[in-house]
Amino acid sequence: MAETITATDRFHRDSRVIFFSGAGISAESGISTFRDPEGHWSKYDPMKLASQAGFLEDPDLVLNWYADRRRAINQAQPNAAHRSISDFQKLFRDSVVITQNVDGLHERAGNRNILELHGNIHRHKCNSCGKNFESPDIEMRTLNHCECGGKIRPDVVWFGESLPLQTLQNAFEAAQNCDLMFTIGTSTQIYPAAQLPFEAKSRGAFVIEINPEPTPFSAQADISVRDDAGSALPKFYEEFYAQIK
Ligand code: APR
Repeated sequence: MAETITATDRFHRDSRVIFFSGAGISAESGISTFRDPEGHWSKYDPMKLASQAGFLEDPDLVLNWYADRRRAINQAQPNAAHRSISDFQKLFRDSVVITQNVDGLHERAGNRNILELHGNIHRHKCNSCGKNFESPDIEMRTLNHCECGGKIRPDVVWFGESLPLQTLQNAFEAAQNCDLMFTIGTSTQIYPAAQLPFEAKSRGAFVIEINPEPTPFSAQADISVRDDAGSALPKFYEEFYAQIK
């Protein structure tokens, strides 16, 4: 990829680097994205399954859907893209992973400094008091209640709900102060997360987009690669490693 030669000589081991990811980074692990033709939302109505109203209307349907997704995720493995981020994080001392994904694959790949903007499907919380229930092995297919009487649900951000405030603030702070951002496998449509690449670019960062399809951010990217994350990210790593090690 000749185009990265100009990029790599701007950076050094102390450059501040962000890896911003969406569902596409987990596609090669066999986990469906949301808006691709075969994505989650093509089969289900998101408002039924990923909203307060949907949960309160039919909690067991929603809990079963999440339990099925958790089971598929537990059978999946992090892919070359997730593993490549761990390599990058050894090269760049100051780096952050900001993910919209709830699958926990970044953590399983050994990535560090992970900000989960939309929560984590392996965690549960009380729908009323917010108490966390860290018991990932619970199938949680039927409704359980917290001691406060609230319903226990997956600790993920549903449509219409606000993102975890401190995590969001940390993500924007990182995006506004980074030197390099990789935006990987996101359709860049769901705000406020989708604002992050624009934020980084507006503050002078060099932004590399990796996505087989164009997105609303593609025109602004310094480099926009039409490729799979599992193939493009390791190639970028080799380029940067050759320049910076
Ligand atoms: N490598 C890189 N990108 C890929 C790959 C791949 N192998 N396969 C698909 N993609 C791209 C698609 O082209 C698409 O642009 O991944 C993107 C997935 O987009 P979405 O399905 O919209 O997922 P995402 O951008 O993460 O959605 C954001 O929306 O529904 C909510 O909470 C949900 O976190 C999610 C948010």
